[in-house]
Amino acid sequence: MPQEAKLQLVKVSKTFGHPHGMVKALEGIDLIVYPQEFVSILGPSGCGKSTLFNIIAGLLRADQEGQIFLDHRRIDGEQGLVAYMPQKDLLFPWRTVLDNAIIGLELAGVRRQEARKEARELFQHFGLAGFEHQYPATLSGGMRQRVALIRTLLFKKEIMLLDEPFGALDAMTRTLMQQWLLQVWSEFRKTILFITHDVEEAIFLSDRIYVLTARPGSVKAVKPVPLPRPRCLQMVTSPPFTTLKAELLELVREESEKAFLANLIRSN
Ligand SMILES: Nc1ncnc2c1ncn2[C@@H]1O[C@H](COP(=O)(O)OP(=O)(O)OP(=O)(O)O)[C@@H](O)[C@H]1O
Ligand SMILES: [Mg+2]
Repeated sequence: MPQEAKLQLVKVSKTFGHPHGMVKALEGIDLIVYPQEFVSILGPSGCGKSTLFNIIAGLLRADQEGQIFLDHRRIDGEQGLVAYMPQKDLLFPWRTVLDNAIIGLELAGVRRQEARKEARELFQHFGLAGFEHQYPATLSGGMRQRVALIRTLLFKKEIMLLDEPFGALDAMTRTLMQQWLLQVWSEFRKTILFITHDVEEAIFLSDRIYVLTARPGSVKAVKPVPLPRPRCLQMVTSPPFTTLKAELLELVREESEKAFLANLIRSN
C-alpha cells in the first residue's frame, strides 16, 4: 500500500443473506483516500454506497477477502475510529441541539459541562449562536444538518464519512451548506469521504470522485477534479467544470439506467 494513504480499501465486497437468497451489494471495491483529501462517491440508488460506509465504520463486516486500512493498519470490523454521519442522521428529539452536538464528547468521557462549553464555541463559530437550547424540531433543515455536522466534527476523528448530508435540502440552502462544509474542511483539516447523488455537488466539493456501477457496486471510474481551491460559485460555469460534469453525468446515467432496468425486471 502506498505510504501516504490515509484510508485504503482493497477488494471489498459484501453479500447479504436475504430470505429469498443472497444479494451482492458490493463487488471488489478498491479505494484510496489521501490525508486531508475530499473524496466523493457517486452512484445510483441501491449500489451499496451506505453499505460501504457501514463497512468502513466497522458496523458491518466485508466478505472475507476484503481489507481495510486506516493509517496503514488493518481495521476491519473496528468501531470508533472514524466520525460517521449516516444517511438518516436523526438528532434526538428529546435533547436540545447543544446536547445533541456533544454526544461524541460524552461517549469519549468528557464531562457534560466541559463538552457543552466546547460545543458552544462551535455553535458561535458556525452561526448557530442563540439556538443552543432549542430542540431539533424547531430548527430549519439546514440548521439541523449543521448541528449534525458539528456533532460529527466533535467525534474528533481525522476522517469523516458523510452520507448524503444535504440530500433533503432545497437548492439554495444546499449551496450555502456546501460552502460552509468546505470552510469546515479546510479549517479543521479533515479527510472527508462524501456520498452524493448530485454530480455538481461532487465536483464543487471534491479533489477526486469515485463513480460506482449499479449493484453490485464496483468502481466504474475515478476522476480528479481539475479546479483550484478555494472553490467559488463562478467556477460552476467554467469549462473544466462543465466538461467534467458532462462526463460524470454520462457515467452515472449509464449505471442508473442499468439499476432502473434491473428493478423493473425484478418487480415483474
Ligand atoms: N443490513 C442489510 N441487510 C440486508 N441487505 C442490505 C442491508 N443493507 C443494505 N442492504 C442491501 O444492499 C443494497 C445496497 O444498499 P445501500 O443502502 O448500501 O445502497 P445505497 O447506494 O446507499 O442506496 P441509496 O443511494 O438509495 O442510499 C440494497 O439492495 C439493500 O437492500
Ligand atoms: Mg445510501
